[in-house]
Amino acid sequence: MSQQEFEAALRDVTLGGFRFFDTIGSTNDEALAWAASDAADFSLVMADAQTSGRGRAGRAWHSPPGAGLAFSLVLRPTAEERERFGRFSGLGALALVEALGRRGLAAGVKWPNDVLIRRRKVAGILVEAVWTGAEVDSLVLGMGVNVSPEAAPPESQLTFPATSLKGELGKAVQRPALLRDILLSLSGLRKKMLSEEFLQEWQAALVFRGEQVQIWQRQAPAFSAELVGLEGDGNLVVKMEDGGMRSIHFGEVHLRPAS
Ligand code: BTN
Repeated sequence: MSQQEFEAALRDVTLGGFRFFDTIGSTNDEALAWAASDAADFSLVMADAQTSGRGRAGRAWHSPPGAGLAFSLVLRPTAEERERFGRFSGLGALALVEALGRRGLAAGVKWPNDVLIRRRKVAGILVEAVWTGAEVDSLVLGMGVNVSPEAAPPESQLTFPATSLKGELGKAVQRPALLRDILLSLSGLRKKMLSEEFLQEWQAALVFRGEQVQIWQRQAPAFSAELVGLEGDGNLVVKMEDGGMRSIHFGEVHLRPAS
């Protein structure tokens, strides 16, 4: 699919800038470099294929040509947004959930940054920051969506069950129109991102709420707890086996259903 087709679909989306690549290492790397120089807010980097797409915790993200949607958005947070930058991964996830809802697909958010359909991963989000001293200067919100089944990694490499939009809908999904819908949703949701209403929407979209989940963080033993909900900054609240509540920061954390 060509750059022109994406440009045509994005006509009514206000972008800070647009860079398109047939093939790139990682759109997040390109966006981070652009953010560190002169990228305006809402500048978009997208690629048909990535050769070293990255996921969270140093995992690889599979991005063969024509099969997925891989893009990174440079965001320059306002002073208020900087205070709550944990909400940006919720912003990306909810924008995708909205765009999929318009296509009749009921998607949910596996905290902190995966989007699931029927408890299978259809997309991942990687938010990375450019810091100036102790301040977040800009953020890069990278999203990878499995549009057709070839976008999902081979079964042997899966760390969580995967699916694709085509697999769920039984028909092809047009990537340019999907990207347009995600970006329009993202821009609309951003206006209320600091509100209680946004937090409630994010919480309502959480998969595994009320269920026992297993949580593990780097270098710490895994534990089981009930997934309760979210705190204002996007941290997860869980109920431990002794009945006490614990708040989990969205850094390097992994979660899966206990059963
Ligand atoms: C995850 O599930 O761990 C997050 C995956 C994020 C993948 C996207 S694809 C576009 C952007 N470029 C990257 O290298 N990664 C993100």
